[in-house]
Amino acid sequence: MGSLDSLISSISLIGPRGNTISVAARGSGPTLFLLHGFPLDHRMWRHQLESLSQYYHVVAPELRGFGGSTLDAGYTLRELADDIEFVRQHLAGGQPIHLCGLSMGGYVAFEYWHVYRTNLQSLTLLNTKPAADDDAGKRARTAMADKAQATGTWSAVEPMMEKVLSPNTRERQSDVFQLVETMMRGARPEAIAAAQHAMAERRDFTPLLGSMRLPVLVVTGSHDPIAPPAATQEWSSLIPGAIYECLEEAAHLTPLERPEAINGLLMKLG
Ligand code: MLT
Repeated sequence: MGSLDSLISSISLIGPRGNTISVAARGSGPTLFLLHGFPLDHRMWRHQLESLSQYYHVVAPELRGFGGSTLDAGYTLRELADDIEFVRQHLAGGQPIHLCGLSMGGYVAFEYWHVYRTNLQSLTLLNTKPAADDDAGKRARTAMADKAQATGTWSAVEPMMEKVLSPNTRERQSDVFQLVETMMRGARPEAIAAAQHAMAERRDFTPLLGSMRLPVLVVTGSHDPIAPPAATQEWSSLIPGAIYECLEEAAHLTPLERPEAINGLLMKLG
């Protein structure tokens, strides 16, 4: 990673509420925004920053509290969408972008589409879902937020390791396992709590899927228990013209588990 790191520009912008937004960027061409999942940071896009920068201006902002971005606790997903718009205006010259979000990044991508759809050339939704949490889901988020603050990040998020990587990835790709663990351990308890509270309050986009009028790509992994293939295929079929792909041998972090497949799909956007 050392040589790749030196090729990625690390940019800090002061956002709409005085918050620092840290952005990794590389390449030139049409702009592709990549929004990371919880509780990760721009490093989950290492393969996309490396390879897709031959075709795109790849821009990977870090969501509030993660990576180098400051927290500003009490945020909503709508405010994260506003941050993304702020970054677009500063780094994409106000031009329309291709937007790709994974899981929590996908929830933000839905919000962005809702408010700023005319700024989008395409939307790619990886390992995510349009529905809001039910009551049990909200309670689980409150429990994770409380646990992170009481006993630290790792004790709260460690159970996720089983879910986010497929058995194949865990057995054969120790570098991926280590990177994911490093990102998770590095997330601050307050960032965990703020993200959980924001996700618990997110709206249900399911009724709006039929009104999406742009190229949409939906991808999940065959072993993803958070965005299972059957449910993902079902909601994606409600979006006119959406393309659905399920990647074998992958779970929730398809850009790390099946980077060539994800890059191949994203290359076709431009
Ligand atoms: C993520 O990967 O971003 C999370 O699994 C999202 C969630 O907790 O719903």
